[in-house]
Amino acid sequence: MVSSTFHAEDLWKTLSRATVDKRHPWRVVVLSTSGPNGANSRNIILRAVESQRALCTFYTDLRSGKIADITHDPRVSLLFWNPRSNEQLRAWGDACVVNDPKALDLHWSRIPDYARKDYATLSAPGALLTEDQALDITSLRVESARQNFRLIQVQIQRMDYLKLDREGHQRFGLNQENDAWVFKALVP
Ligand SMILES: Cc1cc2nc3c(=O)[nH]c(=O)nc-3n(C[C@H](O)[C@H](O)[C@H](O)COP(=O)(O)O)c2cc1C
Repeated sequence: MVSSTFHAEDLWKTLSRATVDKRHPWRVVVLSTSGPNGANSRNIILRAVESQRALCTFYTDLRSGKIADITHDPRVSLLFWNPRSNEQLRAWGDACVVNDPKALDLHWSRIPDYARKDYATLSAPGALLTEDQALDITSLRVESARQNFRLIQVQIQRMDYLKLDREGHQRFGLNQENDAWVFKALVP
């Protein structure tokens, strides 16, 4: 992306591509929250994008720490980095936890069996792993996996795009105004 051809739509197209291309570097996103104990960042997979509503969707376990963080403060930031094209995208928005059974069922139906096990641990993610509870197949409660499954949707309100280039770095700030993305060139 160069300045004369820069369009916010291209960013959304790239994000959309990252949801289907498993090798796309923007598929793995850093999601940062601010919880009761302060800032927290973790990698998470970008699962779906709706450019019209500026929505990014992620999958997680209801019992995970990020859910408590978002409940504490819905403001989150997302960080994307593509080392091949030297493009960084930062995005800020409000996160919400989706509990709607229809939406959950739709996404759950797309998850293969082996990945559904991620939501089937007896204890919450991050809980102390005791010896009698070693993480083998017998300690998974597959039938409750669906109950633990949640979507996190982030409504993006602001973005900051940076492309590193020997010829000169380029940076744009993007804001939503009247349902359109307006961008301004910034000092990198
Ligand atoms: C490459 C990668 C992808 C990940 N994808 C997800 C994901 O899609 N959803 C998720 O909840 N955790 C994912 N994780 C695990 C999180 O980074 C994190 O360890 C876990 O969700 C617990 O975080 P929390 O305690 O802050 O909620 C991923 C980790 C890595 C390294």
